[in-house]
Amino acid sequence: MTDLSVANTANQPALDVEAIRRDFPILSQQVNGKPLVYLDNGASAQKPVAVLDAMDRYYREMHSNVHRGAHTLGDRATSAFEGARETVRGFLNAASTREIIWTRGTTEAINLVANGLAPRLQSGDEILVTQMEHHANIVPWQMVAERTGAKVIPIPVTPAGELELDSFHSLLNERTKVLAVAHVSNVLGTVNPIAALINEAKKRGIITLVDGAQAVPHYQPDVQALDCDFYAFSSHKMFGPTGIGVLYGKSHLLEEMPPYQGGGEMIERVSFERTTWNTLPYKFEAGTPAIAEAVGLGAAIDYLGSLDRKAMEAAESALLIRANDLVESVPGMEIIGTATDKVPVISFKIAGLHPSDIGTLLDQQGIAIRTGHHCAMPLMDFYGVPGTARASFAFYNTLNEVEQLFTALQKIQRLFA
Ligand SMILES: Cc1ncc(COP(=O)(O)O)c(C=O)c1O
Repeated sequence: MTDLSVANTANQPALDVEAIRRDFPILSQQVNGKPLVYLDNGASAQKPVAVLDAMDRYYREMHSNVHRGAHTLGDRATSAFEGARETVRGFLNAASTREIIWTRGTTEAINLVANGLAPRLQSGDEILVTQMEHHANIVPWQMVAERTGAKVIPIPVTPAGELELDSFHSLLNERTKVLAVAHVSNVLGTVNPIAALINEAKKRGIITLVDGAQAVPHYQPDVQALDCDFYAFSSHKMFGPTGIGVLYGKSHLLEEMPPYQGGGEMIERVSFERTTWNTLPYKFEAGTPAIAEAVGLGAAIDYLGSLDRKAMEAAESALLIRANDLVESVPGMEIIGTATDKVPVISFKIAGLHPSDIGTLLDQQGIAIRTGHHCAMPLMDFYGVPGTARASFAFYNTLNEVEQLFTALQKIQRLFA
């Protein structure tokens, strides 16, 4: 079988995957009597020691509530929390921390925007999404459409799982008010040409939101270069803790939007006659925030920053190439999503086997994948399947693990299909 370290082009230093794996203690365990092969990173990725330690240290040495200014621990907690916000700002290359809003995750970030844009929408307005969106980037828009009389319109995808760009252009019109699109599809792995889409939308004054949930584990987006109005992502998919995510938003739009939730922290002054809102970003952060989680996300970003990005991308693409090469070794296996530009994710079906049976049988071999509709039912309808099996790889996965997946699939196919 293959060496653990992934060699790339001649002048490209290989990613030291073996060393990286030691940073993720959860990976070195046995599951069902077999070494764990974790290929469900698209659902949630594992956490390096750097993240676990940062959160542990936060609770041991500095926990208190933030922004109260009454004592030393409060100051320490506030500076760790706001320091993490600055780390996120740097990661996204946002102009200001005023544009970085903590949320519970991508889902809450998109709900916040949909709610905040409601006053701009009226009957007949159109919100463009894509056929490949996660429900998190469909349902909040349907809810706001219900309230305002706007319509949610999907941009179709090709059988290969790429956006139909001609259709996108012909769908744009004077009623289009919002374009909300995934940077990367969670099912297909397709990397959408968001820079070009945003550029087209901008020409028509359309507000743009990018769902970056599946992109940030692989890429570092530059929100100023993209010139998107909003960019949303979740910490837990990019090696940080659960319970926290980020909404980047252009400050002039955030200023204009009404608060999402009311309570402590988001106010300037409260009286029974009139309540006024806090400045950005706090206007959108009602209640005590997820402080340790913010610190953990900051540590995850720092950890990613310590890796060689180019080597990481090359290692990930080597995993995808190996997986694609091995598809033919499993009779009846078909990949759903064969876009030219893809992150290392394979959604597949195997003739004669139900996806959930594939998942269960792989789990018996210690191999974790995801099966089902992946919160993308409209995409499942497009492909005419109830669900798929999905293996989603991260930079800590090895070529050996890809081969183990396919060896197990061959066995399952022989015995059960
Ligand atoms: C593309 C995409 N968008 C949004 C989400 C929702 O993320 P969260 O559940 O962390 O809010 C996911 C989660 O799988 C996703 O893959």
